Amino acid sequence: MLPRHHAKADAYSNGYPRSKDKTTYSISPHRFQPRASPPALRRRRQLLFRLCIILAIGLFAFFIWPGASILSILSLGFISTGEDFQLETVRYYDLSNVQGTARGWEREERILLCAPLRDAESHLRMFFSHLHNFTYPHHLIDLAFLVSDSKDRTLPLLSELLEALQADEDPKMPYGEISIIEKDFGQKVNQDVESRHGFAAQASRRKLMAQARNWLLSAALRPYHSWVYWRDVDVETAPFTILEDLMRHNKDVIVPNVWRPLPDWLGGEQPYDLNSWQESETALALADTLDEDAVIVEGYAEYATWRPHLAYLRDPYGDPDMEMDIDGVGGVSILAKAKVFRSGVHFPAFSFQKHAETEGFGKMAKRMQFSVVGLPHYTIWHLYEPSVDDIRHMEEMEEERKAREREEQEKLDRVKKIKDQFVDTGSQWEKDKTGIQNEAMKEKKEKEKKEKEKKEKERKEAAAAAAAASAPDEEARKAKTLEAAREAGKPQGNPQ
Ligand SMILES: *[C@@H]1O[C@H](CO)[C@@H](O)[C@H](O)[C@H]1NC(C)=O
Repeated sequence: MLPRHHAKADAYSNGYPRSKDKTTYSISPHRFQPRASPPALRRRRQLLFRLCIILAIGLFAFFIWPGASILSILSLGFISTGEDFQLETVRYYDLSNVQGTARGWEREERILLCAPLRDAESHLRMFFSHLHNFTYPHHLIDLAFLVSDSKDRTLPLLSELLEALQADEDPKMPYGEISIIEKDFGQKVNQDVESRHGFAAQASRRKLMAQARNWLLSAALRPYHSWVYWRDVDVETAPFTILEDLMRHNKDVIVPNVWRPLPDWLGGEQPYDLNSWQESETALALADTLDEDAVIVEGYAEYATWRPHLAYLRDPYGDPDMEMDIDGVGGVSILAKAKVFRSGVHFPAFSFQKHAETEGFGKMAKRMQFSVVGLPHYTIWHLYEPSVDDIRHMEEMEEERKAREREEQEKLDRVKKIKDQFVDTGSQWEKDKTGIQNEAMKEKKEKEKKEKEKKEKERKEAAAAAAAASAPDEEARKAKTLEAAREAGKPQGNPQ
């Protein structure tokens, strides 16, 4: 019987639990366990009985028609059982169909996407944003998460985001079957950036990570998966078409280049994943001198291996399809054919050729004649998490910035004060000016008044003088009138 998601009519009910019990996700291994129930036993007995009868008939026929080939008769018996593969507990898989090809999305090849999680709450939303954007048909991708040694809300948040993703209105959004596997591996070292990347902690950390990956994969890999994609949740930027882009190369194991952006004061960008490399003579010679259990970890001064790293070969303008054969691979983003794992290649949790985890995986795949390739000019970007040194430096810079701001503020204050003073004198001057103007005005008015008064006075004096001058004429007129009256002999009356 075909797995459920191969039934086209029901393409999206792909094994994701639709039950009302939303708190638990069934982990699929349990789903395919044969039932040791009495009906099953009975059916098995019936099958045996039927086979016996077919055999008996076959032998009988052989004796009746000795010319007929017993083989054809027997195969007839098998075909008849093959035709009625009706038993619910029997699954039939043809693994020749799931080898993995360059254009898997056209052939409906299923991918198992594995993501190991540890205290990943802060990155989950970003990871789900990537899941939204993948262009590879979502219903062909099954998701498998391993939640281990987490003290934050990784698991509840993961369930929440998965519910939302699978309930998305857009029929293109929901993914295939989802498995969440919870298991602690007793990671003792702190997961903060410094202890994670410190040299001393590397070997044991890598071995535990290897165990986690193996558990996750062995629990989630199904016979119908053609590909396995390993992806870290702290990838910040990656092409939406990354699955198709990597798949097109049709390699057994393939990784992109992984860099990370940096703040400007640190130079803008930097190679991140130094675990993808090509083997060197120096490293092989070094490996020979090391203890059997020793694990070489790349990217540390303690082991000068002089290996060509995929990361350092990046040319931003280089051909993104250019391939480079590598021996060790980094785990940020690995696309591998499922057959690699089915062949027994895994993530060694011990020293394999002086390497462990993903680097050991690359070496083991190489050892088993699989192709292992890196793309130096096809780059994805890991999240920038400042190291303790960076944080210290940033704190110093922050202090400097504050000091500069204080200084700036003080300068501003000084300028303001001076300006204020200037404005004060200005206003005083303004006042003085009006004062003076007023004074001048007053003076002017006074002067005008005096002038006016003076003029008035002169006019009056002039008028008085004129009056005085005309007075004798009046007397003379009066006298003349008197004289005339006297001459006319008229009694001179007093005018009163
Ligand atoms: C996914 O696509 C959207 C829309 O193009 C974009 O805003 C978002 O940043 C993308 N997410 C990631 C993680 O690249």
